[in-house]
Amino acid sequence: MTRVFSGMQPSGDPHLGNLLGAWVNWVRMQQDRDCVYCVVDLHAITSPAEHEPDRLRERTVELATGMLAVGVDPERSILFVQSHVHEHAECTWLLNCVSGFGELRKMPQFREKSTGQGESVSIGLFDYPVLQAADILLYHTDEVPVGEDQRHHIELARDLGQRFNHRFGEVFTLPKAVHPPAGARVMDLQDPTVKMSKSASSEKGIVYVLDEPKRIEKKIKSAVTDSADDIRHDRVDKPGVSNLLEIFAAVTDRPVDELAAEYDGHGYGTFKTAVADAVIERLRPVQERYAQLASDPGEVARLLAVGADRARAISTPTLERAKQAMGLLPPGSA
Ligand code: TYM
Repeated sequence: MTRVFSGMQPSGDPHLGNLLGAWVNWVRMQQDRDCVYCVVDLHAITSPAEHEPDRLRERTVELATGMLAVGVDPERSILFVQSHVHEHAECTWLLNCVSGFGELRKMPQFREKSTGQGESVSIGLFDYPVLQAADILLYHTDEVPVGEDQRHHIELARDLGQRFNHRFGEVFTLPKAVHPPAGARVMDLQDPTVKMSKSASSEKGIVYVLDEPKRIEKKIKSAVTDSADDIRHDRVDKPGVSNLLEIFAAVTDRPVDELAAEYDGHGYGTFKTAVADAVIERLRPVQERYAQLASDPGEVARLLAVGADRARAISTPTLERAKQAMGLLPPGSA
């Protein structure tokens, strides 16, 4: 069966971009694929500005709860916390030794996040994509459901896997990224030229998965559009309207063109109200399920322990094979 792996960082509250860019596909893929999903807490400690130890512990539980609330099924899929499976950190070291400084320095996310940090930027941030490659390669992953911003990271995982196999023999499966048809790049509501992101300067442009209906309505109604009032999809000339159309399409599972044709001529007010209502309805069951799950943290902890055991059952043998292929002496042999 096709193996799927994906992860999300417990840094900042999950928003519509995370839901539509990644989670929707995670849930869908469980139907006919063998899925492994991870709360990537080791990635979340790579940015000192976003790293508060006590908050990280809480956010890790909250994110796992969110994953269960959107529909990750722990009976069918493996759900675990990255730092509970030490193979990820160890495999990163092996892959570091086949990674080039030049290729990592070019990664768009590193360039973006390291801006302004000068020489004090952490090695962890620099190495972020190699840890991500380890996550993916340890599970013989075929497909990685992510938003478009992760395209370069998945290509790097593929390159590193291929380079390792070429030098040391076939150990790793080569993965490919899978993006959703709509929602692969959800933009900020206040500045539709940048992606909706946990690190945005203002919360007004971000719809959080757990936002109350009134807040969602307010944020969508005050989304930046333009002075004309035609409703059509054109990311260059009409980035704000196009972003709302894509969000609308993703939450209702309807084609963008059909929605544009239906609302064109009715004005932005009517259109925004319809988008807000659709988003609220899409989030309502997720929020209800989240509240139920959050009332029983012991159960979430139990599910994560089971998930980590199942994750180790796959990643430990892969790591052992990689170490042997590289010529590291197995313990107990001489
Ligand atoms: P993170 O937590 O930053 O993002 C999690 C997922 O949400 C998607 N995403 C978006 N999609 C559409 N529009 C947006 N505005 C938007 N913002 C975020 C991201 O593409 C991602 O799919 N590096 C990964 C975490 C990771 C990972 C992995 C993913 C670590 N190891 C292994 C896949 C496989 C990340 O960006 O997380």
